[in-house]
Amino acid sequence: MKAPHLRCAACGRELPPTSPRSDCPCGGLLDVVQASREPGRVLVRRFDRRRGDGDPRVQGSGVWRFRELLLPGPGPVLTHPEGNTPLYRRDAVAGWVGHDDLALKHEGENPTGSFKDRGMTVAVTQAVRAGATAVACASTGNTSASMAAYAAQAGLPALVFVPAGKVAAGKLAQALAYGARTLLVRADFDACLRLAREASEALGIALLNSINPWRIEGQKTIVWELLQQRAWEPPDWIVVPAGNLGNTSAFGKALREALGLGLIRRVPRVASVQAAGASPFYHSFGGGFRRRYRVRAETVATAIRIGDPASHDRAVRTIRETDGLVTSVTDREILEAKAVVDAAGIGCEPASAAAVAGARRLVREGAIRRGDSVVAVLTGHVLKDPGVVMDFHSRAGRHRNPPVTIEARVAEVERALKGR
Ligand code: F0G
Repeated sequence: MKAPHLRCAACGRELPPTSPRSDCPCGGLLDVVQASREPGRVLVRRFDRRRGDGDPRVQGSGVWRFRELLLPGPGPVLTHPEGNTPLYRRDAVAGWVGHDDLALKHEGENPTGSFKDRGMTVAVTQAVRAGATAVACASTGNTSASMAAYAAQAGLPALVFVPAGKVAAGKLAQALAYGARTLLVRADFDACLRLAREASEALGIALLNSINPWRIEGQKTIVWELLQQRAWEPPDWIVVPAGNLGNTSAFGKALREALGLGLIRRVPRVASVQAAGASPFYHSFGGGFRRRYRVRAETVATAIRIGDPASHDRAVRTIRETDGLVTSVTDREILEAKAVVDAAGIGCEPASAAAVAGARRLVREGAIRRGDSVVAVLTGHVLKDPGVVMDFHSRAGRHRNPPVTIEARVAEVERALKGR
């Protein structure tokens, strides 16, 4: 196969594909000329093979690929599609954590930018099958963004309860954009959830928070997909940020079922990471889960600003069954971890960075040992919370990267480059 090359659309001059120029010396624009001479039917066969199993019931979804173990049956499936998220490895992040064998499963690369889409595709599918006429949720932001999108697809009215002033801009914008009726409640998330439970009961609306068991079913596929990406060889650790504890619960169920079905032969340890200012589960863990804590939550990671996690009991089961543990990290550690993940060109929202900060802490404390394989789950996209990014880079600090305003002159560009 001949290599592709560049040709000027104006003068016809040809340049090698390695040319550093982005336009022709004559000022014309360059086109890439492809050089493959393989017959179309050969290419079609190969492209189709690479696309994999074209089962129409899966529709390219990394959730419905596991449909036998989620929500079987003949009814319609409401998919975006979602899932199929990458496992990243980046030296800069591994270096900061102090551990070589670290992979990041980026759930922020789901259609609405968080792992919530995996639970929502199943929960909304089931709500439609059950004849729901409207759906509701309380949220720190991501659940509402995801539910709003899937409700729009289903043609169902959506009602969202969020804590006023405590939801990141990207998430609130999504709920509005996708058309959810959005209530800014003058209270924290825990009170929003109580209100959403009462209101949906009183008004006959399907509640789609992670107390809804179908959400948990969908979120199991984060674990199954990462196991599949590792050829069903479990890592030693899965590290996940923890707020309302739906994900921690889902991970335990996924591992329990995978073991029971013989998909894996041993179970990774699950480490749940809370923000220090919102760490009731961490306190419960510290006391051997003898009592359940409730706190007034405060953290820069607004996604996990939760003081009374609804899925406490099933999350306890996950930690016990996987010989897991719970740790907590300060806002400072969260912001530093986020800056490192962001600067690696991956990016995540603050709550997600708690997983990376938590992994670092567990390495330093010796819980994660040299040679252990670790997968940390990044739960949300960097664009979810632009406010935290802009604020971080406008303050003093080691990882800061403030923007530079200049006049349109080359001399100023040069000065700005030297200033770095
Ligand atoms: N990371 C992100 C980005 C989240 O949005 C959440 C939860 C979590 C982690 C914690 O997961 O609740 O299963 O322990 N967000 C919920 C919401 C509460 O309303 O969007 P969890």
